[in-house]
Amino acid sequence: MSTQPERWLVATRAQVPDGCMRRVTRGEQSWVLFNDGGEIVAAADVCPHKGAPLSAGEFEDGIVVCPLHGWEFDVRSGECVSMPEWPGLERATVIVDGEMVYLES
Ligand code: FES
Repeated sequence: MSTQPERWLVATRAQVPDGCMRRVTRGEQSWVLFNDGGEIVAAADVCPHKGAPLSAGEFEDGIVVCPLHGWEFDVRSGECVSMPEWPGLERATVIVDGEMVYLES
């Protein structure tokens, strides 16, 4: 028997404009939504290096820059472009249904 993934509403599309990021929380877990050219993707709001909140960094051209040591991550692939051998971002599945943005886990 398979279990259905859980889906939770986190934002409207208007709250995550193109080129912007938005931090959302669910319980004790925080995520960042990134709108890269109209596509919304999500990652845990935790830098895989030393745990800084990526939502406090800069986001431009599909790259988020960690506020603590400046490592850069590709938000679509999750890869750390500064240190490719380092683990990438923890990703979450984003579902956009009309104007509503959901995360699924
Ligand atoms: S904590 Fe993010 S680069 Fe070091």
